[in-house]
Amino acid sequence: MNKIKKAVFPVAGLGTRFLPATKAIPKEMLTVVDRPIIDYAVREAVEAGCETLIFVTGRTKNAIADYFDKNPELENELEAKQKLEALEIVRNIIPSHVKCVYVRQSEPLGLGHAVHCASPLITPDEYFAVLLPDDLIAGHPDGALKQLFQAHDRERCSVFALEQVAWSEVEKYGVIKPSNDETTPILIDSIVEKPQRDVAPSNWSVVGRYVLSGRIMGLLEQVQRGAGGEIQLTDGIASLLETEKMIGLPLSGKRFDCGNKVGFLEANLHFGLRYLNK
Ligand code: G1P
Repeated sequence: MNKIKKAVFPVAGLGTRFLPATKAIPKEMLTVVDRPIIDYAVREAVEAGCETLIFVTGRTKNAIADYFDKNPELENELEAKQKLEALEIVRNIIPSHVKCVYVRQSEPLGLGHAVHCASPLITPDEYFAVLLPDDLIAGHPDGALKQLFQAHDRERCSVFALEQVAWSEVEKYGVIKPSNDETTPILIDSIVEKPQRDVAPSNWSVVGRYVLSGRIMGLLEQVQRGAGGEIQLTDGIASLLETEKMIGLPLSGKRFDCGNKVGFLEANLHFGLRYLNK
């Protein structure tokens, strides 16, 4: 049984690519068909066995907390009107044994800084999950995080999802150098954030699903600003690699990058077609 119970969701980003919609709505609350983007990552974590969901939020993100909270007025209203199907949907957004915790990232200092905001809730000797909700992953019955947990169970180390991207795209991602032995999962030799194509160590890019050793929190405290002037999670992972083994699991399933308009639209088409084909 999975022993990793905590999942961190960095959701403090401003979502500027989706302005003006995100002027008043968190980008994580934009809907892919009928569910907010964040709901997909949360369900993936819950299905993998996570019971404590840690949202690293910021100003203007209250709608996320409202979404995962109970809404007695709405439930009473639906019950009174006997709209039982709708009531069921509203009540079952997350199961009752799953708890949500909210911590604030007061300044947009980068993904590494966002993950570090959850440090009071993570001990150095435990592993925890990180899910970047922009990466919506579909098409595998087990879910990406569950696959990472299975790999972690076998290898007992940090693990993250990988995907081979076009060389022209490597500068958008964390990119790994695989070790020489051609095994799967891939043993990580080194990792770099958003390298230029001509210096990228491979075209294996990191997808937004991680299982990390709690020791990374102490290391993130020391990380200096890196790519884009931000405190990068990848740089924390690079320092963890100096002392701990780490593996990458090639992603089974299709990733939609809901952080950009085309990916978001593709995700809507993918999930929308399921309704059309019913
Ligand atoms: C982040 C990470 C990057 C990773 C990517 C996956 O980048 O910093 O290492 O490859 O997510 O989506 P961002 O998309 O925030 O620029």
